[in-house]
Amino acid sequence: MPNGDPVQIYTLKSEAVEMQVMSFGARVVSLAMRDREEKMGHVALGHAKLKDYLADRKTYFGCIAGRYANRIAGGRFSVGGQTCQITINDGPNALHGGKEGFDRYNWAASGIPGGVEFTLVSSDGDQGFPGTLTVHVRYTLHGNVVRIEYGATTDKPTVVNLTNHTYFNLAGDGRGTILDHVLRIDADEYTPINGTLIPTGELATVAGTVFDFAHPTAVGERINEDNEQLQLGRGYDHNWKLRGAEGELRAAAEIYDPGSGRRLNVATTEPGLQFYSGNFLDGTFMSRTGSRYESRTGFCLETQHFPDSPNHPEFPSTELRPDQTFQSVTAWTFTARG
Ligand code: GLA
Repeated sequence: MPNGDPVQIYTLKSEAVEMQVMSFGARVVSLAMRDREEKMGHVALGHAKLKDYLADRKTYFGCIAGRYANRIAGGRFSVGGQTCQITINDGPNALHGGKEGFDRYNWAASGIPGGVEFTLVSSDGDQGFPGTLTVHVRYTLHGNVVRIEYGATTDKPTVVNLTNHTYFNLAGDGRGTILDHVLRIDADEYTPINGTLIPTGELATVAGTVFDFAHPTAVGERINEDNEQLQLGRGYDHNWKLRGAEGELRAAAEIYDPGSGRRLNVATTEPGLQFYSGNFLDGTFMSRTGSRYESRTGFCLETQHFPDSPNHPEFPSTELRPDQTFQSVTAWTFTARG
């Protein structure tokens, strides 16, 4: 790190998956899996050098986003009778925890059976959030399944929303767009947004719209349709309300690349899923294969609470009190079919 602190990289390896995670941002740096011919290939986007991660405040490649993943309108909300102002870093809003979010921290790391645990203590007032928040994120590999477990405690009422922000391209990192990938999202509703990507508060039915992925559909099939919500997001950059009960580990999404046969299944205990089609990638950053990361060359499936929940009492709560423990699990299953 610029201050001399060492950054640690751990490799998690099985017959099916090889993944590297690093302490800066508690992030996934690389992930390789097999295609239908059993060939290993990199499917997670990332930078080649630590200095590139340090310089990149746009993509959030692979990181743990927090203390509040996604947006808070105006960076303002109240919790525990206190009004809070979070640092603003996305137009008028706070995105992924504000200016110095969890992606900017070099987390403490320690090996655990099957993987690694990252720990971060975010101080009372960090970016404007109240309460000292102690966060643990564990990545473990079990054959072809990556399990991400999140835990957090606080000493004052606060809000917490944590996700992993890995961009995948199942055709291979640096190998074109993800528009051919076939996506299923296990949801009947989504949260429409306004012009700064803040939910309006409405829960809209996806049936019969371009947001209907209840039946597997190619990402690119409707992405350029004349649709106000797609225009506001510059593509897909929306939160789906997942079926089933928050707190239960259940299927959230499946995405399949017909070219390689690679498939990713996402399961989570979270109530929501942000599907982001990589619209803001604009060729600024180089892939490790030498091509540029242009628009829609990677997608994120961010398991999470809904954006701007602190300002929407009708959404599942993101409040955490000192007598509670925040717990959340997301699992990625990687397979390939012939
Ligand atoms: C999230 C947001 C997007 C974008 C990316 C990071 O997915 O919803 O709008 O900000 O993070 O580039």
